[in-house]
Amino acid sequence: MKRLLVFSLAVSVLFVATSLCFASWDTCKGCHTDSGKPGPSKAALLKKFKTSDDLVQAAMASTNPMMQSMKNETVLRAAAKDMGLKEAKASKKEDKKTETKKGPKDGK
Ligand code: HEC
Repeated sequence: MKRLLVFSLAVSVLFVATSLCFASWDTCKGCHTDSGKPGPSKAALLKKFKTSDDLVQAAMASTNPMMQSMKNETVLRAAAKDMGLKEAKASKKEDKKTETKKGPKDGK
């Protein structure tokens, strides 16, 4: 019995770990369904946001309680990438000077 418990615990830990590592649009589509309920559909989001920066910012700014647990930049960025959004507009080369809140991507 104890073994079974340890085993199931290990499985669930593994599950959570993998879902965090492989964060993707899959994390979002439970709510962001094609019907647009409760969250806007992927198509609607893609229409509204052109870069992952836009999307991440909007997600972070969302006041909807359902989005609270999703306010994790790593998760959001991975999802944005998965959706096919570009990091940011590549043409802006002076970003470094003007943009201060740019965190390192692999910051742990
Ligand atoms: C538990 C359900 C749920 C999950 C999971 C979820 N969302 Fe949401 N999301 C919502 C709801 C509800 C809204 C608010 C919709 C509204 O305000 O009309 C929202 C809003 C947003 C917005 C803001 C849209 C806007 O127009 O301002 C973005 C961007 C967003 N979600 C992205 C994501 C991403 C990316 C993920 C996955 C990492 C995700 N969401 C996961 C429910 C969810």
